Amino acid sequence: MCGIIAAASSRNVGKLLVQGLHRMEYRGYDSAGIALHQDEGVVHLRTLGKVKLLEEKMIQEKPRSKLGIAHTRWATHGEPSEINAHPHKSSERIYIVHNGIIENHVELKKELEEKGYAFTSQTDSELIAHLIELYLQDSSSFIDAIYKAKKRLEGAYAIAVLDYQDPNSIVVARHKSPLLIGLGTDENLAASDPLAIAQLTNEFIFLEDGDVARISSDSYEIFDTNQASVQRAITKLDITSQATSKGDYRHFMEKEIYEQPEAILNTIDGRVGAEDVLDNIFGLNSNELFSKVERIQIAACGTSLHAGRVAANWLSSIAGLPCQIDYASEYRYRNPYVDKNSLFITISQSGETADTLAALSYAKEQEYLATVGICNVPTSTLARESDFVLFTNAGPEIGVASTKAFTTQLAGLLLLTLSLAKARGLNPKLRTRVVEALRTLPEVIRDALKLKDQIIEMAPGVASKDNSLFLGRGIFYPVAKEGALKLKEISYIHAEAYPAGELKHGPLALIDEDMPVIALAPESEIAEKLISNLEEVKARGGKLYVFADPSVTMDVKAGRLIHLPKCDFLLTPIVYTIPLQILAYEVALLRGTDIDQPRNLAKSVTVE
Ligand code: F6R
Repeated sequence: MCGIIAAASSRNVGKLLVQGLHRMEYRGYDSAGIALHQDEGVVHLRTLGKVKLLEEKMIQEKPRSKLGIAHTRWATHGEPSEINAHPHKSSERIYIVHNGIIENHVELKKELEEKGYAFTSQTDSELIAHLIELYLQDSSSFIDAIYKAKKRLEGAYAIAVLDYQDPNSIVVARHKSPLLIGLGTDENLAASDPLAIAQLTNEFIFLEDGDVARISSDSYEIFDTNQASVQRAITKLDITSQATSKGDYRHFMEKEIYEQPEAILNTIDGRVGAEDVLDNIFGLNSNELFSKVERIQIAACGTSLHAGRVAANWLSSIAGLPCQIDYASEYRYRNPYVDKNSLFITISQSGETADTLAALSYAKEQEYLATVGICNVPTSTLARESDFVLFTNAGPEIGVASTKAFTTQLAGLLLLTLSLAKARGLNPKLRTRVVEALRTLPEVIRDALKLKDQIIEMAPGVASKDNSLFLGRGIFYPVAKEGALKLKEISYIHAEAYPAGELKHGPLALIDEDMPVIALAPESEIAEKLISNLEEVKARGGKLYVFADPSVTMDVKAGRLIHLPKCDFLLTPIVYTIPLQILAYEVALLRGTDIDQPRNLAKSVTVE
């Protein structure tokens, strides 16, 4: 998704703005641009493609400027092109960068065109620059014009505005799109993502919806929705360079896969005692509230939704709670009936996914007991807007494909299940069993990571095909779905997941020697049935790659059977995810794709 960075400094800012754009590359983008204030005019550079192309333009132009805004764009309205890249401008005075979507852009554009403003791009963003210039004509101040323009905008936005006539400050505004200020030494910054400016400061101010702020090199001022000057809390955050660099790994995704033992440890640390989950780990009085819960509703997207589907199984078997799960993007469109004493749960790595936030905001209008978030980013909107939150503490996840976020979400959802079971006085022995298993989980994951060499040997068999099928049963069906999602998003191989019993109801027709079938066969009552399903695949020439419990034996012919380390069955969905992540990564390596920034995808999907 788009990324914004802005700086007002006592030194040259061109380089630091471009470095900030580099740090936001992981979010996914298609073009980049920068506007830098100089006395003789604004330097306005844009490129289609990677930030390094913009950097090359900068090296040729050698701008010198202490004030600037920059952007990486992920196309929503208008194709990826230099013309559609930000910053957009109105005459040679107002330059803006924008994240989000302006929903009433058609009518506003028409109105502005009728007033004589000429549009050069197909974006919904350019009109913001014209609107500000229009309102400047009858405003008492620049801030006043921003408020007048804001009143007209419907949708979501974070914007940064550079005015050629003001050599000292940048104005930023936020409405339903993340934006923060960074306080530096002899400089102040603004960005949509703290990682963009983490090398420059550890003091951040997270703006609230409706806020407008003016930053200059030695001061800043924030105004609230009513244009009244306000103070917002300064948050100290240590986002170390280690967390944001690949170290010896080839890709962030690879680093994040191998960080999982540590990440899981951080999720459970301080939240479980010797025999049980600790009280109120979701916030003050969460236990008391959990004792009233009779029903669960989960809404999430993508990988986070898969985590929810696994958890639904735990919630019913350990906490005795019925659970409904929805794609966050669909939830509010089905007029959901809310039963009494229902708890609403969202799951999100970023805490900024627009569909999930929209579902949360809809749920807050309904008769839920409370809202609970499972989230990795403490400063996110989701964290702020939920009644109770559990942070997964996985550390920054940079690779677009979620890995450690998923397994730590699962660990967090197990903690939620245990907390609900405890509050309802259910299954004390089972709770102790799960807590003990959770403590050994980092070690089991370490062992699962050692399967890498075996997986590297099987990867060419998958990488050489264009399609693949993932099979699992019961709680392993969502794990199979997650495996398929990982493979398709980074290797571009078509991958589908099925509950193995469904094969004979249609997908079996797809099986031939060009269809690798990746199956999950943990030891359980379903393993035996799954193995008969796999025999059906084998009989039709399908190549089998089976991840299985050590007790499972079967002839996979030219395929491969890989045994996973033993662990408590309830935790196996977490452990079986590991080889699927490694497989997707190794296959993508063989296919030479852009693993950390796969085509068309964005890390944090901040548009609905
Ligand atoms: C897949 C992936 C996406 C995200 C989804 C939700 O690897 O990363 O499917 O899981 O966009 O994002 P969050 O969890 O940030 O709400």
